Amino acid sequence: MTRGVTSATAFVSRLERFDRVDSTQRIVREWLDAEDVPEVAVAVADVQTEGRGRQGRGWSAQPGTALLVSSGFRPRALPLRRGWRLPAVVALAMLDAAEDAAGLRDGTLWLKWPNDIVADGVDGRLRKVAGVLGEAVARDDSVGSAVVGVGINAEWPASRFPPDLAPMMTSLSELSGGRPVDRDALLEGFLLRLEARYEALGSGRFDSGGWSARQRTTGRRVEVSTGSEVLDGRAVGVDPETGGLLLEGAGGVRVVDSGDVIRCRLLELPQTRNG
Ligand code: BTN
Repeated sequence: MTRGVTSATAFVSRLERFDRVDSTQRIVREWLDAEDVPEVAVAVADVQTEGRGRQGRGWSAQPGTALLVSSGFRPRALPLRRGWRLPAVVALAMLDAAEDAAGLRDGTLWLKWPNDIVADGVDGRLRKVAGVLGEAVARDDSVGSAVVGVGINAEWPASRFPPDLAPMMTSLSELSGGRPVDRDALLEGFLLRLEARYEALGSGRFDSGGWSARQRTTGRRVEVSTGSEVLDGRAVGVDPETGGLLLEGAGGVRVVDSGDVIRCRLLELPQTRNG
């Protein structure tokens, strides 16, 4: 059921809110496939019955706790080799909007390569705040259309986290000491920031400095599982050309492609001041 149609910015051609859908990714993909829907088309849901995560995994959130949003694009000239930049700009726009909407200090939220939004837990381990899923259709050597979805834990008290995920997750309300998080304001802030970042992408510009600086994996020992191997090494940065992770191992530095990664796990806690 659609709960109303509003457009936060002129950049959004269609914005629909749903109480309950299978997946906002499916809805927006259908809009884009209908050809007559111009970009940027945005679907937001309160509940998803078949929410999709990366690598064929599912994605679920309790009603009222998360912002579940998919944005559909028809990029003007985005070569396939740079297609990873679309989910990256979505992640950066949401990260900035989330810090603002939740009243968090700049630098509270980070990216965990490729596109998770995370925060440091009190135990030094990373806790996931949001996941980003990019699904693109190619046209020759370019991205013809793409749907990028974000599920961000907004007003979700730790007491209601699913027990199996509780040690790995957090929410904006938990990070802000229990303060309410307005999901409409978060959506509005996200779309405003996305507009600027997406327009830049259309002119061939990408904030590689900001994207690199926000990577929490850099300098840490990680284990990366791809479809064919498990790699262990030190993440020494990210590559703004390919979007890959620069992984230093026994044989030197290699670039791990973000499209190949099934899981990226940090293997060590950061050094504390006391060692
Ligand atoms: C991940 O696995 O980390 C990515 C999760 C992406 C979830 C969002 S929620 C809104 C949109 N609709 C979906 O079905 N999935 C994405």
